[in-house]
Amino acid sequence: MRKYHLLAPGPTPVPPQVLEAMARPLVHHRTKDFEALFAEVRAGLSWLHQDKGDVIILAASGTGGMEAAVANLLSPGDGALVVEGGKFGERWTEICKAYGMAADVLRVEPGYSLRLDELESRLDPARHKAVFVQASETSTGAKHDVRALGGLLKRKAPGTLLVVDAITALGVYDLRPAEWGIDAVVGGSQKALMLPPGLATIWLSERAWAAAAKSRSPRYYFDLRIERKVQAKNTTAWTPAISLIVGLKVALGMMREEGLDAIFKRHARLAAGAQAAAGALGLDIFPQDLRSESVTAVRVPEGVNGKAIPDRMQDAYGVTIAGGQGELAGKIFRIGHLGYVDESDVLTAVGALENVLTDLGRRVERGAGVAAAQKMLLG
Ligand SMILES: Cc1ncc(COP(=O)(O)O)c(C=O)c1O
Repeated sequence: MRKYHLLAPGPTPVPPQVLEAMARPLVHHRTKDFEALFAEVRAGLSWLHQDKGDVIILAASGTGGMEAAVANLLSPGDGALVVEGGKFGERWTEICKAYGMAADVLRVEPGYSLRLDELESRLDPARHKAVFVQASETSTGAKHDVRALGGLLKRKAPGTLLVVDAITALGVYDLRPAEWGIDAVVGGSQKALMLPPGLATIWLSERAWAAAAKSRSPRYYFDLRIERKVQAKNTTAWTPAISLIVGLKVALGMMREEGLDAIFKRHARLAAGAQAAAGALGLDIFPQDLRSESVTAVRVPEGVNGKAIPDRMQDAYGVTIAGGQGELAGKIFRIGHLGYVDESDVLTAVGALENVLTDLGRRVERGAGVAAAQKMLLG
């Protein structure tokens, strides 16, 4: 018998009450029952975005939400500035290119956070119709300060839209798009929303909606103008991912019960616990500036086969974490602690990590990481 412990930065564990709701007989989406359910989910998502505005729900993975943002806010030939601090920043560039936008890349060394002075020196308000960025760059564990970025754009480039991939930030730490001058926020279901993959969410500011009305980009499935009109009537343009929306109602109910403040504090505490454990085991945290509360990225110590760490965590101890992606493969490993994750989960992962490092020939004092995390997590 082997229990399965999912501590990846997505997909994340799904609570039993969400699984149970999704297992019930399917409701048809063109019914009053579904409309009532959809209305409740839409209200819950607005609450999560700390704004009254519409949040559009799409049947897609998070990347679909990113694509919808690019296709709806810009037109072919438009200039954009993309903050590339890792794999997901690169994805913004790739989508912009696919839609014929002229993406200028502001490369941020992996593990570092965006420096506003660097962005300011690259920013051309006449050319850049939008700035694309990650709130939490899951591939490196670094955070970019989107609040400060919003403030900078308000002052220096008031016509430039700020488009934020918040896929591992939404429901993890404070994000106030309307207040902070953000124009688009993209979310994904398999992260802090505590669902399986398959839903993307997108919130837009009023001026982003105005841009969507003017965009000349080709769109069909991801036409947010159509979705906004239809979703305001509590239905969807196409067949929605009904089961996931049923699950989302339960997940949002759990989130409301916990409260935003408590949710943010829990994630901060879990991140602090994981980071303390890494420190006590003599490991270095990979992000050098701002650390995301959703994932702890740790540098693989000298002499240890980095790719073997996640494999052995899973195969020998039943704990799923993530390795590094792209150029970081084998150089870092990442422990996800977002969504339906608590103190005991992090302690389990740290305990398994101590064993894995020992198995792979690294001398660690077993128990040291657990003790450090315990102090941080349980006081
Ligand atoms: C920051 C970030 N952006 C984008 C994505 C892509 O989302 P998806 O894999 O759901 O398409 C992810 C998924 O891990 C992510 O963490």
